[in-house]
Amino acid sequence: KNVAIIMGGYSSEYKISLTSGNVVYQNLDTSKFNLYRIHILKDKWVYVDDNDAEFPIDKNDFSTTVNGSKITFDVVFNAIHGTPGEDGLLQAYFELLNIPQTSCDYYQAALTFNKRDLLSVLKPYGIKTATSYYLNLGDPINETEILKIVGLPCFVKPNKSGSSFGISKVKSAEEFLPAIENAYKEDNEIIIESFLDGTEVSVGVINFKGETKVLPITEIVSENDFFDYEAKYLGKSQEITPARISEELKVKVETFAKKAYEVLKMKGFSRSEFIIVNGEPHMLEMNTVPGLTTESILPQQAREAGIALPELFENAITLALK
Ligand code: DAL
Ligand code: MG
Repeated sequence: KNVAIIMGGYSSEYKISLTSGNVVYQNLDTSKFNLYRIHILKDKWVYVDDNDAEFPIDKNDFSTTVNGSKITFDVVFNAIHGTPGEDGLLQAYFELLNIPQTSCDYYQAALTFNKRDLLSVLKPYGIKTATSYYLNLGDPINETEILKIVGLPCFVKPNKSGSSFGISKVKSAEEFLPAIENAYKEDNEIIIESFLDGTEVSVGVINFKGETKVLPITEIVSENDFFDYEAKYLGKSQEITPARISEELKVKVETFAKKAYEVLKMKGFSRSEFIIVNGEPHMLEMNTVPGLTTESILPQQAREAGIALPELFENAITLALK
């Protein structure tokens, strides 16, 4: 089978995605699959061979041509974080072209990538969230009213983005407007959330061999003010798997994460973030193309569950092809 490993993307996360994609490339068994690294970047879509030679992708049928021979793909392994790989755009494109893909369907991707919409869909199922306020670019910003609702400190986040780009923890009213401006650099929608003072946990849920599987939970202890970019990627945090939480809490978090996956009819990878406050998990978000580097959280969790990277990635392809 010809496998297109797509990586890059149009968002601030493109470099992280290139790392994820290359880890996928290095961990799939080449005796079982013909692997092709495809860079999907703002200025070009190209197949990149082992000598870093680039061959353009024909967007009409997602094919490429090498030395006069046309290459098509049987399946897409999606390693693109953020737009257009995690927000439904590419999912819809591959669905139209009838090319199976490892990630969830376009609707699930679009819904989960939108923090406000995801959390409001899950709320009726008893999944708690922070108190929040939502702004669209151009909306009047009534600072006093918003801060009365969410309190201080609060978080200002782009509504649709990842890896903490554009997120600020706001501790005083003076920091509020600059935080809004910063978040609008990433997205034209903003979500402002009350600060949840508790234990942060990250929960991977995947389909493994046809069953929904909750991976061991990771506890996140950030050295910074929150789990920001530096804490995530520059070592300023401890990620402890399995999390040091009670059995009762573990079951509660697992139940919520699994429920979210099943209610949404998810496929492929997911990693949801929660903050546990007074024994109650509050959901922050769900990532459907979570980081897949060797050091990333979901691969750590899979290893803890006895699933090595080659098996994790092969499982995703096998299910996509079913
Ligand atoms: N958005 C990053 C890649 C993650 O969720 O791991
Ligand atoms: Mg995220």
